[in-house]
Amino acid sequence: MDFIQFLVAFLFVGLTCFHFLRSNSRHRKSGKLPPGPYCFPIIGNIPLISRNPHQSLAKLAETYGPIMYLKLGSIDTIVVTSPKIAKEVLQHQALLGRRIPAATEVHGHDSHSMAWLPADNHWRILRKISKEHVFSVPRLEASQGLRQDKLQKLLDYVHECIVNHQLVDIGEAAFITSLNLMSATFFSVDCAQFNSDSTQEMKETLQAMTKVVTSFNLVDFFPVLKSIDPQRIVHKSNVCFGQIYSLLDNMINQRLKLRAESSEYVEKNDLVESLLHYSQSNPSEFPRDFIKHFLLDLFVGGTDTTAATVEWVMTELIRNPEIMSKARNELWDVVGRNNQVKESDISRLPYLQSVIKETYRYHPTGPLLIPHKAEVDTEISGYIVPKNSQVYVNAWAIGRDSNIWSNPDSFDPERFMKREIDIKGQDFDLIPFGSGKRMCPGYPFAARIVPHMVATLIHNFAWKPEKGMKPDISEKFGVALQKAVPLKVIPIKL
Ligand code: HEM
Repeated sequence: MDFIQFLVAFLFVGLTCFHFLRSNSRHRKSGKLPPGPYCFPIIGNIPLISRNPHQSLAKLAETYGPIMYLKLGSIDTIVVTSPKIAKEVLQHQALLGRRIPAATEVHGHDSHSMAWLPADNHWRILRKISKEHVFSVPRLEASQGLRQDKLQKLLDYVHECIVNHQLVDIGEAAFITSLNLMSATFFSVDCAQFNSDSTQEMKETLQAMTKVVTSFNLVDFFPVLKSIDPQRIVHKSNVCFGQIYSLLDNMINQRLKLRAESSEYVEKNDLVESLLHYSQSNPSEFPRDFIKHFLLDLFVGGTDTTAATVEWVMTELIRNPEIMSKARNELWDVVGRNNQVKESDISRLPYLQSVIKETYRYHPTGPLLIPHKAEVDTEISGYIVPKNSQVYVNAWAIGRDSNIWSNPDSFDPERFMKREIDIKGQDFDLIPFGSGKRMCPGYPFAARIVPHMVATLIHNFAWKPEKGMKPDISEKFGVALQKAVPLKVIPIKL
């Protein structure tokens, strides 16, 4: 170890100890912290957290209860594992903040992004735009046709796989379809293609960025290391964000050019058109430069989550052939065997909707939601949530709690045929999209495209697991909770 390394290590240990001692004494003075495991100096409780943190935290909650305190590095962390306390947390004005991962503090993303901004005026404007200009019923109805075409592409791809005796990687097919459904709705273009070695730039860049942003970054647990960036994650993230912004800028500039060049330009019925209008009419509220940050939030928030959900639904349907038959029979009864399923059919498919709710219960793709942050010391359930602590709501553990759900480990859509429950954040037993002011703004979009994709995949195809083995359900934590082993299956035309 040379002198500089020694100095850095010495400063790091010293500063972290100082921070640790200072924050602990402050909390003891200001109120009672929730119960939790013993914190080691410097690292705190990091050794207790596995690669699937929602599982480790669920296990710890069995010992420490529905509200726990942990120290992850130097970060105060509160974990909530009950519907009642989740409601208190998600509805509390002081807990609407976000701790910003260092990897997103590049290209000004953190100060423009709906997902990372504090709940301030700027954030409220972005939420309003997404509600009124992206996910309102009239907007989504108007862009339905653009999406129908992308589902036909998915069908064509599966047919092609049958002809070529090829397996279908469901997660990959769903990712490409989600990306295309989104780019059709936003830009009226396709971003990615099936079966293409030169799969397009947007898909690759998004996947690279997601990988970087979700890597375990020491800096997020020891902010004193920020300026050193020891794993070079912020550096890599800077490159990925740069690439993606340049792609988005190109798309926006092309549209501006088209609009400017031709007097006969016919406006497209998509989001970019609508955002450009909004920005032109409200330049101080939503300057033109904000558009790319806004679009990136939607792509990142929407692709992995919807693709992973479709993969989980298909996994459970293949593991449970009688549930698959029942869902398919419903489709045949309601839509007919030879008609293509449309978005407008979904509301008439209660069993399919129950299958999807059961998937959200058992495999929520945002198992810990996105962590919230306490803006001030806040009292929750008689305990103090210290200012600046991150607050996790373990939706995954709530979905598997045997005090709430009978036979929580069996995949049983029938439970939702008997029990009326919505997933729009009103019922805290099931909160895959969160709840309250910070709830997922993309819910109305996901509520259309997830069932539509699944219905398209099961309507006219049967699916056989590779080598006849039941697909497993082990998990991999990331932007979305994914399958550890991708679902690759054989399609059969019915
Ligand atoms: C199955 C699909 C989806 C699931 C399970 C899901 C889940 C979630 C969850 C749990 C949150 C955090 C809520 C909280 O912090 O309390 C969230 C936030 C968010 N989601 Fe989704 N989401 C999905 C689809 C989408 C789609 C399709 C979009 C956009 C096209 C989207 C965009 C966002 C954005 C921008 C946020 C941040 C909102 C904010 O912080 O104010 N999501 N989502």
